[in-house]
Amino acid sequence: MAKPILIANWKNHPGSLSEAGTLLRQLSRNSRLYKRLSLFIAPPLPYLGTVSLRTRNFASLATQDIPAIFQGTHTGMVTSDILKSFGVRLVILGHSECRALGETSESVSQKVKIALRSGIVPLVCVGETSRDQDGEHFEFLRDELKLSLASLNRKADTSKLVVAYEPVWAIGKSARDAIVPADLKQSVIFIRKVLTDMFGRKTAEHIPILYGGSVEPANAGVLLDETGIRGFLVGHASLHAKSLGAIAESLI
Ligand code: PGA
Repeated sequence: MAKPILIANWKNHPGSLSEAGTLLRQLSRNSRLYKRLSLFIAPPLPYLGTVSLRTRNFASLATQDIPAIFQGTHTGMVTSDILKSFGVRLVILGHSECRALGETSESVSQKVKIALRSGIVPLVCVGETSRDQDGEHFEFLRDELKLSLASLNRKADTSKLVVAYEPVWAIGKSARDAIVPADLKQSVIFIRKVLTDMFGRKTAEHIPILYGGSVEPANAGVLLDETGIRGFLVGHASLHAKSLGAIAESLI
């Protein structure tokens, strides 16, 4: 059985390298615990080197985006091959905060291909902005997932693909506002069904589905209870060593 996956999405925090250093020092005290799962830390780009050096024995490096270009000369871009050479192993793609600034599912799909070409695992985020009684959000979810993975055909190498279900309405709040396990379970079944339609049952059942959106120590345990998820994508709680530790405990 593969290890549970925990992704720490630091976004644009902590605000300075010295604060990042303090957080890394605190995290390393829990290295024994983190070695029992697949922990990825996605820091702001300038901290990559430091994070890599200081988490070497208990975490892998991730990044929060890559450009939708593979080759050529592009001012201002840090391309996937450069990131890979720094040890980046996973990229968060299609995060709702990027989509809110214009990222489309079409460009996510391009980036998925580029990540795989560079040998980086694409973690593709999908999630509805609101839920409704008539279940229309499922249609949205299906379209977003299909378009974001359109570059992969049925025979594509999906062994490295990870999907994160992140309902936009639940991001950046508190455990009280997160999704309830019954609804999470329903969404995971639905996502699995769409993946099955796209890639066939055998392939689809091996694609890990994570949950993200206000995961905190208070709700991590219940969200795992028979919902079918294989781990978490954690934002604000990943900036507090104690909270991340407690979430990791719930995963093992
Ligand atoms: P949150 O963020 O845990 O702060 O809700 C999750 C995310 O945006 O990936």
